[in-house]
Amino acid sequence: MSDKHQQDHADGIAEAGKPAPGYFYVLYFGLIIWGIIFIAYFLLSGWSSDAEFQQKMAAHTGQPVETSSAAPAAVPQSSPGQTLYADNCSGCHGADATGGFGTDLTAATYQYGKTAEQVRESITAGRGDSMPPFDGQFSENELAALVDFLLAL
Ligand code: HEC
Repeated sequence: MSDKHQQDHADGIAEAGKPAPGYFYVLYFGLIIWGIIFIAYFLLSGWSSDAEFQQKMAAHTGQPVETSSAAPAAVPQSSPGQTLYADNCSGCHGADATGGFGTDLTAATYQYGKTAEQVRESITAGRGDSMPPFDGQFSENELAALVDFLLAL
């Protein structure tokens, strides 16, 4: 405690006596200002993680991204075929059947043919690597309703 400078400090640790470098002040006050702006933006912008989540969920459950906002206008009013379609096929072919992971089923022609027999075959036996076979999953009536529904699109 002989040094005058040291006496300023209760813990007795001596300082070099140099002022902090300029970049320290830039960082110090810069970060304070950045923090204020960040908090202000967070509070005032109206953003919330919950709102963002709800928005993304709405977009996601709206089926294929490119048609998320469009109403499923192509689909006629609820019929047995439509219900079966919505329950079993819309996940891949889209809520309005215009495609997504699966192909566009509103197209005028199908790759594997668009006669009742060919469409029925597509459904029961599957197509390619990604269209699963629905063999035995539908009754005759259900299958006919589905085919009717698709051919009417
Ligand atoms: C797991 C996803 C998936 C599901 C579920 C699915 N499909 Fe498909 N579907 C596909 C894909 C992918 C293709 C294209 C296959 C190819 O071309 O190799 C396809 C092809 C088809 C085709 C033939 C289209 C053409 O151009 O010839 C028809 C018809 C069809 N699906 C109807 C249905 C129906 C009806 C259902 C519900 C019972 C259904 N799909 C469920 C993925 C799916």
